[in-house]
Amino acid sequence: MTQDELKQLVAREALKHVVEDAIVGVGSGSTVNFFIDALAGIKGRIEGAVAASEASAERLKKHGIRVFDLNAVDELPVYVDGADEVNEHLYMIKGGGGALTREKIIAAVAKTFVCICDASKLVPVLGKFPLPVEVIPMARSHVGRELLKLGGHPELRQGFKTDNGNLVLDCRGLTIIDPPRLEAELNNVTGVVTNGLFARRPADLLLLGEAAGVRTVKARGA
Ligand code: 5RP
Repeated sequence: MTQDELKQLVAREALKHVVEDAIVGVGSGSTVNFFIDALAGIKGRIEGAVAASEASAERLKKHGIRVFDLNAVDELPVYVDGADEVNEHLYMIKGGGGALTREKIIAAVAKTFVCICDASKLVPVLGKFPLPVEVIPMARSHVGRELLKLGGHPELRQGFKTDNGNLVLDCRGLTIIDPPRLEAELNNVTGVVTNGLFARRPADLLLLGEAAGVRTVKARGA
């Protein structure tokens, strides 16, 4: 199976977790695009969606799925999103597409976070994928210096602005042995909007696309 076929497989599997007559949280990225396309097939059974990026919102609307503002939503039973890396604790690195802040906000509201990935995303230790850090533009250099002090090698994502009008520093070389701790430490740097570690609010369920089919993984110890 190709990587795209694996993404499609997990995207379809995620439909089983969508709650009828409710609003579903929708992340962003290529795996989520497959999920949105699959969601279109059951659009009559959901109230609508909240989206983590303008691109996802556009795709949902093209399929005739109503997109709600998160502020107008009281309850969000399920959030479906991809990841750039995920480990056995279902801690993740996200933000390869730059939508990390909105993704983290929706994840915070959702009761259940269902992560959908092809098998290449499961790693023993997070950190090979450069960690995205969203920063307020005037704080770019300051945050860069702070990341250097932490042992990282930040690089400005060229020609890119987030949906919130901010910049992204992609940071290589950080030692991520305690993801929840590093997530909090980075968020404490003045000028950081958020960082791509999703450990303080990990996924609840991982649907992993493998050649043999979809493997459902719960966090180790959960
Ligand atoms: C975007 C994200 C995506 O979930 C992540 O980059 C995975 O994307 P893809 O499904 O295309 O591999 O965090 O900000």
